[in-house]
Amino acid sequence: MGKKKFAVFLISLIAALVLSACIGNNENKTAPNNNADTENEANKNMDMGKEESNSMAGMDHSKMDMETMEGHMSHDKVVSLNDSTGKNELKMPPVLESNNEKEVVYTVRAQKGETEIFDGIKTKTYGYNGAFLGPVLRLSKGDTVKIRLINELDEVTTFHWHGLEVPGKVDGGPHTVIKPEEEEPIEFKVTQEASTLWFHPHPKGNTAEQVYNGLAGLIYIEDDNSKSLGLPNEYGENDIPLIFQDKTFDDEKQLNYSAAMNEDGTIGDTLLINGTLNPKLTVKKEKVRLRLLNGSNARNYTFKLNTGDSFVQVATDGGFLNKPVTLKELSLTPSERAEIIVDFSQLNTEKGLALINENESILLPFEVTDQRGEDSNLPGEMNNFSITEEEMNLPVTKKVEFFGMMDKVTINGKKFDAERIDFTQKQGVTEVWEIYNKPDAMGGMIHPVHIHGTQFKIISRNGEAPPENERGWKDSISLKPEERVKIAIQFKDKGVYMIHCHILEHEDNGMMAQIKVE
Ligand code: C2O
Ligand code: CU
Ligand code: CU
Repeated sequence: MGKKKFAVFLISLIAALVLSACIGNNENKTAPNNNADTENEANKNMDMGKEESNSMAGMDHSKMDMETMEGHMSHDKVVSLNDSTGKNELKMPPVLESNNEKEVVYTVRAQKGETEIFDGIKTKTYGYNGAFLGPVLRLSKGDTVKIRLINELDEVTTFHWHGLEVPGKVDGGPHTVIKPEEEEPIEFKVTQEASTLWFHPHPKGNTAEQVYNGLAGLIYIEDDNSKSLGLPNEYGENDIPLIFQDKTFDDEKQLNYSAAMNEDGTIGDTLLINGTLNPKLTVKKEKVRLRLLNGSNARNYTFKLNTGDSFVQVATDGGFLNKPVTLKELSLTPSERAEIIVDFSQLNTEKGLALINENESILLPFEVTDQRGEDSNLPGEMNNFSITEEEMNLPVTKKVEFFGMMDKVTINGKKFDAERIDFTQKQGVTEVWEIYNKPDAMGGMIHPVHIHGTQFKIISRNGEAPPENERGWKDSISLKPEERVKIAIQFKDKGVYMIHCHILEHEDNGMMAQIKVE
């Protein structure tokens, strides 16, 4: 082996040993696999067997990883995703339609079930109003929405509406627990613009496992603007939800969370989209709108077309961009959403078309039929999002520092305490916050930062204007190590809201703080 390679190997080994010593991670007695084969010893560290990678998650932070990762969470390299064979047509979540113009009444039930993810095998899963995942809740701006929340699990849960601008008491954070066999009515008004949001559980210390087992659903908000833009809007035809979640299945093809769990974020080698294993999507020769949700516990995705063609992004987490933004790739960290338009009438399908990720893993093969769809033009103007001069010039009134890894994760040096209010803000008053991802001696990792109950604006990333496709409403934002982001944020309603890392194991480990709006 080359001297340089050997040195890198030694440094990373020492780093990992020092790290595992200082985090006192004694439960895992598995020794790292050090008999690396000569040609590939560097990769070996990143590509260790699952057992080792879980027990030695500290390896993620070695200098070597940081070099190859450019701050990307190194998990992506430890276990890459299996290619989708395209064997199964993508499943579409059922839609809950409202039957009343003025009032929308839904029942959302958290339940256990069994799902045939693999042919002929029943996997134990959780779901909303079904065995796995949940329906799409369709709402319109101005609706008054009533939802009966029912917990049919054997454990406490909450129903959190990620991205929805609602009072703290109906936000579904860790304070609003519903016990097994109990139900709770909630009511709120939809006051925000058209967007793709989602819902999932949020019980203290147990969010990761419940989401991993299948509790997640989508919320679509429509408004006059979204209806008049002429974007593809036939659900399941040319307006397609894509919920990306990676899992590890055990030998019995079960989701064994405690075996798969990683304190720095649980990842898996098997991608499910809308709960579909080996998915493929059949489309016509037309523009198709894909609503992407990174619903994974921890994995980051950079989406690309295998042909290298571009696509356009039309919406961020919380609404439309002002203008479509042309991209060749798009990254989403956990809980982020984006709506993109892919024009299948323009793409060369000869060699096969697929959505792939940064490692060129095939996520979703497309089958393009000969049928021509409607020929629609993309709108030029879609929204009137802006950051005012006044907002730009506001002083920073809150500083929020994300730091640490594994179970040593903190915000401003503290772990979550349900009894402690960390920040206060006046209802309806815009403030500028500075969020900072403080690196550690090993470099650090990406933290996807999410704030409840509001949509905010990104003023700057490291002092620079955000990229074009982040000039829109956001409720989650990815921060690389050492990155410093300024946001303009206000809350329309009162209550207690969470700010946390959306790597769900970091959230459960206490990388969460509370904002009281009064
Ligand atoms: Cu999507 Cu507090 O979470
Ligand atoms: Cu949320
Ligand atoms: Cu984190």
